[in-house]
Amino acid sequence: MTTLTIPPQVRAEGPNEQGYQVFSLGEFLFSRDEYFAYITWPTGRHVMSVDAFLRALQRDVAWDFFYGIVNFDGVLGTVNHYGSVDLFGGRYNDAYRKAELDHVDRIDTPVIRETFKAMLADWTNEGFDPFASPEETGSAFGLKRGGNLAAVTRRRVTATRMVSMPDDEALRSDANGHPVNRMFADVSQDEPEVTAEPGFEGEVASFNLFAYLSRSAVTWNPSVVSVCRDSLYCPTTEEYILPIIHGNDRAEWFVQLSDEIIWDVEDRDTGAKRAKVVMKAGDVAAMPADIRHQGYAPKRCMLLVWENASSKIPELISSGKFPSQPVVF
Ligand SMILES: [Fe+2]
Repeated sequence: MTTLTIPPQVRAEGPNEQGYQVFSLGEFLFSRDEYFAYITWPTGRHVMSVDAFLRALQRDVAWDFFYGIVNFDGVLGTVNHYGSVDLFGGRYNDAYRKAELDHVDRIDTPVIRETFKAMLADWTNEGFDPFASPEETGSAFGLKRGGNLAAVTRRRVTATRMVSMPDDEALRSDANGHPVNRMFADVSQDEPEVTAEPGFEGEVASFNLFAYLSRSAVTWNPSVVSVCRDSLYCPTTEEYILPIIHGNDRAEWFVQLSDEIIWDVEDRDTGAKRAKVVMKAGDVAAMPADIRHQGYAPKRCMLLVWENASSKIPELISSGKFPSQPVVF
């Protein structure tokens, strides 16, 4: 039995009839039962399938609210202000806005972070892993049944220079608990040979990114594998549906390394459909700063997400000094 310690800044009450805590944040109330998550605010209410809700919550927690907007679906989500976070219902939904049913609460990052972590820990049942593909995990549903703290508190890979460098993120292997995924059995596990000039042994490194990704146990979780100032290579393995709709606050480059992803691209602020992008192995796309996107991967595949982490970019774009598109054809 997992014992959950709820930090003092988290407002929780319970357990409810199904065994789960009920959480509040600003004027929002979050509860779950056997199948659904229920979210209410002064002017509205919302319901989501609890497996989809937990998959979205897991990303928001693990990515510490990421860049820009994390939409759990077309209604609920968060906006990262890098120090505080907007929690919203209907804010980026044209119909909710027009009917004046939308609501936003700005919350200090530590408070929403700790509340979301406590909710994720309490609402995730034994055997359910929100980061895993549906084929590789148990059920999120039913009455409160144990927990899965090891899965929901996984450490995210964030290299400071590059995976495989001394004192940096290690390569993955069977021995350190990273077996090759069932869908990547054909990926070569060879590693490059590096011969450095004497004196540069700690400065020159190389690794097989495909082998590294073939051993990822999680889906839709861009992890930092190399860093050059603000330029971050964040590759990830994808299967089934991206559990959030990501609203960009900067341009994002995608390089499809294997297989296929179908992207739904919408206007960031209204949700109006803008494009359907089918990316096959070798395709490159630049997602503009004024869209939101959700991907569908029929088979487990490898995607390289290239991020510019500069904190100046959102302001440069919103003030019109930088364009939303990084390239014009
Ligand atoms: Fe994105």
